[in-house]
Amino acid sequence: MADLRPHSAALPPDVAATQALLEAGGYVADRALATTVHLALAMGRPILLEGEPGTGKTEIAKVLAAQLPRRLVRLQCHDGMDLSSAAYEWNHARQLMAIRLAETAGQADRGALERGLYDRRFLEARPLLQAIEGSPALLLIDELDRADEPFEAFLLEILADFQITVPELGTIRAETPPVVIITSNRTREVHDAIRRRCLYHWVDYPNAARERAILARRAPEVSAALSAQVVAFTQGLRGGDAFFKPPGVAETIDWARALTALDRRELEPASAEATLGVLLKYQDDIAKLRGAELARRVEEAREAAP
Ligand SMILES: Nc1ncnc2c1ncn2[C@@H]1O[C@H](COP(=O)(O)OP(=O)(O)OP(=O)(O)O)[C@@H](O)[C@H]1O
Ligand SMILES: [Mg+2]
Repeated sequence: MADLRPHSAALPPDVAATQALLEAGGYVADRALATTVHLALAMGRPILLEGEPGTGKTEIAKVLAAQLPRRLVRLQCHDGMDLSSAAYEWNHARQLMAIRLAETAGQADRGALERGLYDRRFLEARPLLQAIEGSPALLLIDELDRADEPFEAFLLEILADFQITVPELGTIRAETPPVVIITSNRTREVHDAIRRRCLYHWVDYPNAARERAILARRAPEVSAALSAQVVAFTQGLRGGDAFFKPPGVAETIDWARALTALDRRELEPASAEATLGVLLKYQDDIAKLRGAELARRVEEAREAAP
């Protein structure tokens, strides 16, 4: 059987090195996530990341691609996605033109003409094929749960053997298998057959210490006091079902930046209330947090912050 492992020469040798590599690219990964990434690279297996919105699932693919380095190829999944938008498409206009040219040049052998039509020249590569051809790639299949289920069946061939079969042309195989990262927000369950081929990791909200570390990396302009208070505040909104959409890490970063842009160095009720739309994106959630409730939570966050 062919060796499906990515070229190991450029890979980080152990979990600590993988964690450091991500850190150097501005991504703060806990040990468990770094272990999954390390194993996926070492074993040449895809990673399936599920988790809450805004917890760094897409970002880790971008950072890993930049750090390895590998060409990043992104397939953003959507409703109704099909082969022609995800993998390849025959360019009919160019095929037609080639026929006309051959005819005017006096080529009469119809059979030869037709066979020539299904030449690689006339095949337009979309992300999945782009990830298999050319220089070594990192393939990000983002939000797979948004694609229709039949699409997953097609993905299986790619995930198992890193190859794509074009019926008219044959099988195209990756010289260096792409590193594959798949993300899902669980609007529906990804099929078992896909799961089996992947290493799975649930990306949870970070704990307070890690969220402060992320803030320090992503928004160094935020004061240490404000950072600690903002993190304590957002952590208090997660868990339980008091809020329809609690803030992700992305919102924590945005909020800390917004408050800093308003010259705040500490969290206080007035500017917090004025900027709630940076943190929460649903009117019902914002309404729950106004006034006395907000003042109480700000006070609590200030006390809890180290
Ligand atoms: N561990 C982390 N280290 C550094 N930055 C992070 C981390 N987690 C999240 N972020 C920041 O949060 C932002 C949002 O992350 P990302 O877009 O990857 O979330 P996601 O899990 O893909 O969300 P969604 O499910 O909504 O697509 C990133 O741009 C990055 O700045
Ligand atoms: Mg994402």
